Amino acid sequence: MSTSTSTTTTTTLTSLPTLPALPSPKPMLLTTAITTRHSTRRFLSTPPPLTTLHTALTLATHAPSNSNIQPWCLYLLSGPALARLKTALLSAASSTPTGPAIPPLPAAFQRFRSALGQQVYGVGLGISHSDTAGRRAAVLRNFDFFGAPVAAIVCMDKRLSSADAVSVGMYVQTLLLALTEQGVGTCVEVAVAGYPEVIRDVVKEIPESMDILCGVAIGYEDPTMKVNHIYTPRNLVAQID
Ligand SMILES: Cc1cc2nc3c(=O)[nH]c(=O)nc-3n(C[C@H](O)[C@H](O)[C@H](O)COP(=O)(O)O)c2cc1C
Repeated sequence: MSTSTSTTTTTTLTSLPTLPALPSPKPMLLTTAITTRHSTRRFLSTPPPLTTLHTALTLATHAPSNSNIQPWCLYLLSGPALARLKTALLSAASSTPTGPAIPPLPAAFQRFRSALGQQVYGVGLGISHSDTAGRRAAVLRNFDFFGAPVAAIVCMDKRLSSADAVSVGMYVQTLLLALTEQGVGTCVEVAVAGYPEVIRDVVKEIPESMDILCGVAIGYEDPTMKVNHIYTPRNLVAQID
């Protein structure tokens, strides 16, 4: 998976060698990695070197997990395999007006999605609220992994439970921070998990025993795109008196 012409299809963490020697880390403060990581929604086509990805994947295995199960299982795609997945997902999403099969957001939380939508589509992409076709086209870019040259499909054994999903989340965040340190952008995407059969049809290595939790778009971000510089607010830490 080292070049854009690679035919590499998938790899899983379990198939990676255990904790090989790591290259010297770049000098980025953890605070800087945490505060500069953000969701990239427009990527350049150049894929990061395989060594960069391997370093980040290896660092991420240091994440804690319930009973040290290390329940994360990633399938990485690039090149023709990723192109096939993008085509299949875009086709499915384009012909499903109801959107991906993911649990609906409860009404009490809808305001967060509305605020994010205004930032991403309104401020970031300059699409007005009334431009239904423009917004729909922009949403469909989820299924192109926003042009990313590498994508991960994040899975977990179906027999495991919410504590283990927490462990997978800790792994994914560690992976995002490790990639941030190396100048690589990311976007976690639950949207693609709404088409599990489409993914399974292309990524045949994913066994039925695994749930597909989310995707992650990976690559160098296009710094000229405003959508990569939007502001997503955070709730304040509650004060305890
Ligand atoms: C579990 C999870 C699922 C997400 N799914 C999507 C998605 O399907 N599409 C998308 O554009 N962003 C998705 N995001 C990115 C969030 O919208 C983003 O993390 C949030 O708005 C905070 O912005 P930031 O990542 O730029 O800090 C997801 C993030 C997480 C953690």
